Amino acid sequence: PATGLTDRLGRELHDLRISITDRCNFRCVYCMPKEIFGRDFQFMERSELLTFEEIERLARVAVSLGVRKLRLTGGEPLLRRGVEELVARLAAIHTPDGTPLDLALTTNGSALPVKAEALAAAGLGRVTISLDSLRDERFQAMNDVRFPVRRVLEAIVAAEAAGLGPVKVNTVLKRGMNDDEILELAEHFRGAPHPLRFIEYMDVGSSNGWELKDVVPSAEVISRISEVYPLVPVAPAHPGETAKRWRYADGTPGEIGVISSVTGAFCGDCTRARVSAEGKLFTCLFASEGTDLRALLRSGAADDELAAALTGVWHERDDRYSEIRSQASANRGGSTRRIEMSYIGG
Ligand code: GTP
Ligand code: 5AD
Ligand code: SF4
Ligand code: SF4
Repeated sequence: PATGLTDRLGRELHDLRISITDRCNFRCVYCMPKEIFGRDFQFMERSELLTFEEIERLARVAVSLGVRKLRLTGGEPLLRRGVEELVARLAAIHTPDGTPLDLALTTNGSALPVKAEALAAAGLGRVTISLDSLRDERFQAMNDVRFPVRRVLEAIVAAEAAGLGPVKVNTVLKRGMNDDEILELAEHFRGAPHPLRFIEYMDVGSSNGWELKDVVPSAEVISRISEVYPLVPVAPAHPGETAKRWRYADGTPGEIGVISSVTGAFCGDCTRARVSAEGKLFTCLFASEGTDLRALLRSGAADDELAAALTGVWHERDDRYSEIRSQASANRGGSTRRIEMSYIGG
């Protein structure tokens, strides 16, 4: 339902992605390469992180302004101590019109076998799990901490058993690294209730050395799978969806999604705001500057002042980075240093 809070391009504020830590126990080569995120890397201090009380307050205010979807991200959000308590606080937030909140979390899965039950009991709705390869040697080279495939598959089972499914599975494709596995991955999840989503490798941050030639276009993904298992498009469930969805023409359960932020930008109906673990508000994944909400929270601002700050930022918003990048014939959109994915949470 329209709340009237629209940005300069007429887009409503609908989703809030909340990063709760900048740390991760993986070192995926396209996200936190070891050369940069090594022993000496300065992660945020605990005192710099928004507290659960602060996050809850922000979320409440955002919901009062029309937000209906909250997603916890990181880094790896399950590394944040007491994350179940935060989930419980967020799950208790009621929307003004009684529509339930969509409360989700994006994770690498490593802690799910231990935490899935508690997260579900605390009121988490669903999880999205990243899995870039089914081949152990390769997966371990990609996460760079020798984390085995088997344990991610166990995480999917644990999530489903706890009632956090269907689990969306996110696969970032990088040319020459895992693009030969598209069909294998599809076959693995064909017949399962878990949507498998192929993500075009994006030029987020400044440390992954992104190049256009590393991107595997979504059209290629769909044609490779369709050659063997014909796919038909599924209509979007709501505007602003990141993934274009497909199902098997023969009726076999299973869904393929493609997230084409390089070859098919979806800024036109981007309704997402992001808050970093230290409380900076960003209106685009590719922004270089955020608005410091923590300072406001810690200065004793009342809820209506917080609401006014959010409203002001959203009204001014005109971001459409991915679209502009495509128009600039696929070069990186700008030369300014951008925030890292592990900081803003994707
Ligand atoms: P669902 O509601 O479950 O569909 O979630 P989602 O697709 O919004 O979230 P998820 O965390 O699974 O993100 C999947 C991929 O899409 C990640 O690589 C994100 O970085 C990317 N993504 C999510 N939102 C945006 C966005 O606003 N812009 C761009 N360019 N990429 C995004
Ligand atoms: N491009 C695309 N997706 C990325 N992710 C992390 N870094 C990148 C990147 N450079 C993915 C993670 C996770 C999601 C939140 O973002 O693998 O699935
Ligand atoms: Fe960690 Fe996810 Fe980044 Fe991999 S992609 S390093 S799991 S935050
Ligand atoms: Fe939204 Fe920015 Fe992503 Fe475009 S590039 S979809 S504006 S977050």
